[in-house]
Amino acid sequence: MKSRIFDFIDEDLTGLKKSGLCRQLPFIDSPQEPRVKINGKETILLCSNNYLGLANHPKVKEAAISAIEKYGFGSGASRLVSGNMEPHMELEERLARFKGSEAALVFNSGYHANIGIISALVGRGDVVFSDKLNHGSIVDGCILSRAEVKRYPHKDMNVLEGLLKKHTSHLTPHTSLIITDGVFSMDGDVAPLKELSELSEKYGCMLMADDAHATGVLGANGKGTLEHLGVENPEIIQMGTLGKALGCFGAYIAGSRKLIDYLINKSRPFIYTTSLPPAVCAASIAAIDIVENEPQIRQDL
Ligand SMILES: Cc1ncc(COP(=O)(O)O)c(C=O)c1O
Repeated sequence: MKSRIFDFIDEDLTGLKKSGLCRQLPFIDSPQEPRVKINGKETILLCSNNYLGLANHPKVKEAAISAIEKYGFGSGASRLVSGNMEPHMELEERLARFKGSEAALVFNSGYHANIGIISALVGRGDVVFSDKLNHGSIVDGCILSRAEVKRYPHKDMNVLEGLLKKHTSHLTPHTSLIITDGVFSMDGDVAPLKELSELSEKYGCMLMADDAHATGVLGANGKGTLEHLGVENPEIIQMGTLGKALGCFGAYIAGSRKLIDYLINKSRPFIYTTSLPPAVCAASIAAIDIVENEPQIRQDL
């Protein structure tokens, strides 16, 4: 008799197809450029996150190729075992300098970084206040943490403050976290980080900003949303990605040395995974060089 165990998959896929919601992978048959071939058709590409055109930049490619020649391709292990090489550490130093933070830690993707930091910082019995339009990786990080999640309407500081007041008895920096995209990934608008920073100080919560779409783009020097808004608060935990404007792959957390040491010890998506190939780190360093030394590309954008 034929097994019926996986019939639910046929049923689900048929349902998705009927409602026009079945996802399919487009095929890009060229490097990431303003014009690409998608499914064989010449197309103007307006949906990529390669905002500065660095994904196919000669200096970025050259850095990756030299690193492959020097280090080979794979890193072979987790950073905590034998996968911690010079480009990983150099990239973290560069990121910390770029962001003006004490230290930085590289994660394998923005998704890893978000699930890794939220689940390390809060846990069962704690509370996370999260903007309703936050990225899916933040949503998943909140679920993984097992903390109670209070979602506030998009950028609504009045509702957020109401929620903070309601939970005051519970709020200590160790048990509560406000979290927001810096630039929201679908709408492209900017989070009210000045107000969020004030609320986090007033109610004694941690605050984290996901600068996936602002790194390399916003602010006079491309440092991100805080620079763009003129917010100076070294306590804000800043996450950003290397795979969008920087044209590479991976992500980072910038913050205090003790926060980074804590994550190295507590963040499971950092601990239990093979580290990025060193060539990816070398390419990211070259991309940061370009962002720092060629402001014209940001002005053109
Ligand atoms: C706001 C935001 N955070 C995190 C991510 C995840 O980053 P990554 O693509 O490096 O996993 C994305 C995009 O995918 C994003 O838009």
